[in-house]
Amino acid sequence: MKKFLITGGAGFIGSHVVRRFVNTYPDYNIVNLDKLTYAGNLANLKDLEDKPNYRFVKGDIVDQQFIDELFETEQFDAVIHLAAESHVDRSITNPIEFVLTNVVGTVNLLNSARKFWKGRYEECRFYHVSTDEVYGTLGEDGLFTEETPYDPHSPYSASKASSDHFVRAYHDTYGLNTVISNCSNNYGSYHFPEKLIPLAINNIKNSKAVPVYGKGENVRDWLWVEDHARAIDVVFHKARAGDTYNIGGHNEWKNIDLIRLLCRIMDRKLGRAEGTSEKLITFVTDRAGHDLRYAIDSTKLQRELGWSPSLQFEEGLEKTVDWYLANEEWLNNVTSGKYQEYYSQQYKL
Ligand code: NAD
Ligand code: TYD
Repeated sequence: MKKFLITGGAGFIGSHVVRRFVNTYPDYNIVNLDKLTYAGNLANLKDLEDKPNYRFVKGDIVDQQFIDELFETEQFDAVIHLAAESHVDRSITNPIEFVLTNVVGTVNLLNSARKFWKGRYEECRFYHVSTDEVYGTLGEDGLFTEETPYDPHSPYSASKASSDHFVRAYHDTYGLNTVISNCSNNYGSYHFPEKLIPLAINNIKNSKAVPVYGKGENVRDWLWVEDHARAIDVVFHKARAGDTYNIGGHNEWKNIDLIRLLCRIMDRKLGRAEGTSEKLITFVTDRAGHDLRYAIDSTKLQRELGWSPSLQFEEGLEKTVDWYLANEEWLNNVTSGKYQEYYSQQYKL
């Protein structure tokens, strides 16, 4: 397989996946298709601009004709699909965007793959990148496995669950060679500061209130983004057609404990007295329908395909803080203009 379409490659995880594939596989030609929404940023891929096996195309996966034309001219053999509306809070405010991009956009890509790959389904692969949020929420115990029934609660997770179902349906009905992975929360460089970790880093840096929803008791399972990109690489190359893998860090943190750890790291890095940043923690109204706990059992991926996470969380978080402090220009650019509007509407702080 030589000709790849990666969608959403200008976003957080997509940029790491594109970087990994472009640099690891010089014989793969990679087209990165991205609409460049508020979350897409070509500055995430500056180091790849001159690579001979990489090309950026601006476009919308909701436009079926455009996707068909791209498949026709580029003759892809593989799709790694990451383009999505990805933020739960935005899905609560504006669900229809999530239906369009996450559901309709995914079905459009499946339709093009089905049409242009006719007669060679076995050699072409459609990889759909999904989330653990499709499984709903856990109580105090237990882990999500690949057998956990889907039970999404937010418009975001409902749209991702729907897209997963369509991908499976195209495998079961038409025989398309599909693979799905469901990953836990990612963190690392190029993460847009609307999500918890980069938002908190930016606010602590600027000595602004750090909003924690409810009592900060919700638990997430955090994975370093480059470990996710490596898992996608392994799953893409080794999984059986129609299979699913869960990807996670075995790294559960209550939001409030995570934020306290981040405050301590930031105090140290910024030369502030211990305890300074913790004073910024501000408990705010809880998110509607807020899932209590996510935690992934990635035994299948570890056992069958030999993947495991590489970084301890403290080390990864420290690397992440270092990246944001060293990339002030990137952070200032993405938090100017429209971000300020979003922030004041969302938080009223
Ligand atoms: P992101 O919001 O940072 O990036 C999404 C990208 O998709 C952006 O570059 C955006 O411009 C592009 N995009 C949006 N709508 C588009 C459209 N209609 N056509 C073309 N491009 C469009 O998201 P992310 O955090 O990098 O997530 C990437 C994928 O991984 C998503 O499918 C998400 O559901 C999944 N995922 C994310 C996490 C996480 O922790 N962030 C965890 C598990 C799975
Ligand atoms: P987020 O990064 O939005 O990821 P997800 O909702 O997909 O898990 O949120 C992670 C956790 O942090 C989640 O429990 C909600 C919480 N949270 C806050 O407490 N404050 C915030 O400002 C944000 C954005 C999230």
